Amino acid sequence: MCGIVGYIGKQDSKEILLRGLEKLEYRGYDSAGIAVVNENGVQVFKEKGRIATLREAVDEAVIAPVGIGHTRWATHGVPSKVNAHPHQSSSERFTLVHNGVIENYNHLKRDYLDGVSFKSDTDTEIVVQLIEKFVNDGHQIEDAFKETLKLLKGSYAIALLDNQDQNTIYVAKNKSPLLVGLGDDFNVVASDAMAMLQVTNQYVELMDKEIVIVTRESVTIKTLEGRVVERAPYTAELDASDIEKGTYPHYMLKEIDEQPAVLRKIIGNYRNDNGELTVDEEIRQAMVDTDRVYIIAAGTSYHAGLLGKQYIEKIAQIPVEVHISSEFSYNMPLLSGKPLFIFISQSGETADSRAVLVQVKEMGYKALTITNVQGSTLSREADFTLLLHAGPEIAVASTKAYTAQVAVLSILARDAARAKGIEISFDLSKELGIVASAMETLCDDKEEMEKIAREYLSTTRNCFFIGRGIDYYVGMEGALKLKEISYIQAEGFAGGELKHGTIALIEEGTPIIALATQEIVNLGIRGNVKEVVARGANPCIISMKGLNEEDDRYVISADVHELFTPLLSVIPVQLISYYAALHRECDVDKPRNLAKSVTVE
Ligand code: F6R
Repeated sequence: MCGIVGYIGKQDSKEILLRGLEKLEYRGYDSAGIAVVNENGVQVFKEKGRIATLREAVDEAVIAPVGIGHTRWATHGVPSKVNAHPHQSSSERFTLVHNGVIENYNHLKRDYLDGVSFKSDTDTEIVVQLIEKFVNDGHQIEDAFKETLKLLKGSYAIALLDNQDQNTIYVAKNKSPLLVGLGDDFNVVASDAMAMLQVTNQYVELMDKEIVIVTRESVTIKTLEGRVVERAPYTAELDASDIEKGTYPHYMLKEIDEQPAVLRKIIGNYRNDNGELTVDEEIRQAMVDTDRVYIIAAGTSYHAGLLGKQYIEKIAQIPVEVHISSEFSYNMPLLSGKPLFIFISQSGETADSRAVLVQVKEMGYKALTITNVQGSTLSREADFTLLLHAGPEIAVASTKAYTAQVAVLSILARDAARAKGIEISFDLSKELGIVASAMETLCDDKEEMEKIAREYLSTTRNCFFIGRGIDYYVGMEGALKLKEISYIQAEGFAGGELKHGTIALIEEGTPIIALATQEIVNLGIRGNVKEVVARGANPCIISMKGLNEEDDRYVISADVHELFTPLLSVIPVQLISYYAALHRECDVDKPRNLAKSVTVE
């Protein structure tokens, strides 16, 4: 979702800001802008659409060593130049960028800004006008900023410029992520360390309800009450090459191909000296102590959670419920006596999940976050964290983070089983090793996946994925992947459920992608395929060797325990979705309307 950058130093800020915004493009946006300050005051450039359009609009002749920038993913007001950030106060003295949602903006407008005329439909403009109002009332700018923040309800990350001061960027956050980066003779602001990796890898984390005064030479963090807070910087363990596409045409394809390496990295990171895959003692103990695990997640991470339930129940014999985070808060189930909450989130910033985390922490329960981003909000605010070690995932459609989530959940389940003295018939490390090698073979079969995509999906308006048992969950993930990047209407269905209504949608030629990787349901799913074929569907069966039949379209060959076939069957599904999107000339890495890091509820 929206992204923020800022620079204050000796160089011209424009290029640094634009390059920073380009690094945030992956989060999803529909307009972008920058504001820079020099001795002539502030200059704002903003455009609807891509950063490339903004680049063309920026006046090269303006040289300014201070600036802020923003990518906007519309919430209040349509995507447009007027609604794009930065926004300015009426006198144009103050210029501001904001991520998040100000929930009480209408009340604030009514109570404090009567008579002020607004240019945009955004909630953000209220913030900059409030700051100007408090300055006009006699406050110093820092106090005016604080007074404004105290009134805001909702989420925000803010960077603010005063056109009368070329040596300060004012920064604050609540619930939305924001970092300050440190350099020699300069400092930067960024929603994500990736944005400013071009100039620094030293970052300071900001906490909610702090304000930060960033100058060329210093970074001063204060609470809203005015107490100065000392906080040591950390080194962002990111390699610049991790965030480049290299020779790949798209990040998504690169990330699909990275999955075997990610799996091996996970094995390496979680293996103890005895060669066992284990988690930290305190996490193990939390698993042993709980009487029920509640998995909370959204989208693809929710689908990984459904597989996590299978692992934790079947391997560790602990009951599990899986919940969509946006539903949980107001639809909370009756909780068990000793619940353990597991939050699964690639970004670690998903606002829906964070809202649940805040709620369950207030209720006094323990929480574990499984995330790809160390230091992310969900990681910081939970009691424990398990990292995915997947490296930055840039494509909006999650691929390697999903398989990493599934693998880490299997390790958590295996370790809990060991702690509970439950005998397991397989060696997890060996199984995951087999999976990694088999993934490589699948990734090498791109030509075949491309053919399947062309054959089944180049012109269709819809598509169904069906499966039974754990294949059903992979089908749900397949449908999400396909629809989000190719815009084909796709649904993942339990094979047996189709005939209870949805079969009415099957027409001559409707593609049905059926997954058959589990012996126990093999006959069942094949029966379901026959039912839809009898009604004209065009079936594409993806099966495991040993369960395959003559007309299966793709057969996965790997001698792996049945619990881990989802880590394999998802690869053809990801690749088929990728090629379907390519055939339809869609923007694979940046699908319309979507954001990578969903930081609003
Ligand atoms: C789909 C996708 C999304 C995310 C969801 C949760 O490809 O990426 O469905 O899985 O928005 O995001 P995280 O995992 O960051 O909490």
